[in-house]
Amino acid sequence: MNILILGSGGREHSLAWATLQNPKCDKLIVAPGNAGIAQIATCAQIDIENAGAVLALTEAETIDFVIIGPEAPLAAGVADRLRDAGLLVFGPSKEAARLESSKSFTKEICAAAQAPTAAYAHFTDAEKAKDYIRQQGAPIVVKADGLAAGKGVIVAMDEATALAAIDDMFGGAFGAAGAEVVIEEFMEGEEASFFLLCDGKTALPIGTAQDHKRVGEGDTGPNTGGMGAYSPAPVLTKALEKQALEEIIEPTLAEMARRGTPYHGVLYAGLMIKDGRARLVEYNVRFGDPECQVLMLRLGAQAFDLMHAAAEERLDQVSVNWAEDHAITVVMAARGYPGEYQKGSEIKGLEDIPADSGQMVFHAGTQAKAGGIIASGGRVLNVTARGATLQEARDRAYDMIERIDWPEGFYRRDIGWRALA
Ligand code: AMP
Ligand code: GLY
Repeated sequence: MNILILGSGGREHSLAWATLQNPKCDKLIVAPGNAGIAQIATCAQIDIENAGAVLALTEAETIDFVIIGPEAPLAAGVADRLRDAGLLVFGPSKEAARLESSKSFTKEICAAAQAPTAAYAHFTDAEKAKDYIRQQGAPIVVKADGLAAGKGVIVAMDEATALAAIDDMFGGAFGAAGAEVVIEEFMEGEEASFFLLCDGKTALPIGTAQDHKRVGEGDTGPNTGGMGAYSPAPVLTKALEKQALEEIIEPTLAEMARRGTPYHGVLYAGLMIKDGRARLVEYNVRFGDPECQVLMLRLGAQAFDLMHAAAEERLDQVSVNWAEDHAITVVMAARGYPGEYQKGSEIKGLEDIPADSGQMVFHAGTQAKAGGIIASGGRVLNVTARGATLQEARDRAYDMIERIDWPEGFYRRDIGWRALA
């Protein structure tokens, strides 16, 4: 099979890595890819949010199956256009992708599906939103309705912060994404992520994970795209998985199907767990980054078969071959991230780190230059390892980091602390 993966991050490097291990893969193209992906596959420089450009690439490369990594092409309707052209696609339609691209849409679906989630209200008027905040009091959560690159959520511990967030959002701080806001009840508890493959009818759990969103050790400092992750998430027990599946995921999929917009692809449910129950924080319509990297390391080549089965709507006929293992990924980022950072510093030592089914350095923001690898983004490398225990996986990942010579980079030394405590 000729396969095209869309995206350029560590997530897509791990998807490409798993796909290449599967004998069904005859040819793999990744667009646009990065320097790490270029070491294992052919990269094509196209605008992946332009459905016409993606379609032209699939024709030129006689592609059979397209796996869409990030949310932006999904929200832009790239999956719809490819399906209309008769291609096999892993990823939801534009309408189904609203589970991530519109917070108010997700709330509406949860209400119709009676899925447990935070109480909320939806506003298009700043003054009405502020009145509501004053009436509810803090802590309270203010969210820009649309896609805001992970920055559109303000968890306000006091009223003044919540009111200021309304001014920012209606003042255009998040562009069109902030012209509507959702205000939510603050939920306490421990967060974990639940990943499921969906084919419009069946939901197949493929793993759980927890990430570390804050930049600093001890979960301090500003939010990032994620500084590390591990799988499984011990807090998400089998009983909680079952409750989330029965009360949240399955009713959501049924409601999407009832509306004539069945959900296909991976559904990433962010859950808040308290007192033995899970409530939905949010949905994403793609794999998490860096959560995908730990899931791929654990699943290996079967990840491709499962995505293929999802695209062919035969998830009811497959099952996951589980191993009792653990995986962890530690993000190496450019100094200054998530604020201002320098690009172009050289990373050495990568070629001396053995890569196998138990350990892999996935590239996020890298570029090849003059025979070497340079940093070209904020999050740059995902040092990923597997082990019989989380401790073993973690020791292995930090040993790998020791061998990377990149003075301009930094990483958290405490990834996995919650699960190891
Ligand atoms: P989101 O972009 O929706 O994932 O939100 C980012 C983060 O904000 C989540 O991972 C949670 O840590 C936090 N958050 C979002 N909604 C709530 C809520 N209703 N209560 C508490 N924390 C929340
Ligand atoms: N790591 C969080 C996300 O991908 O949304």
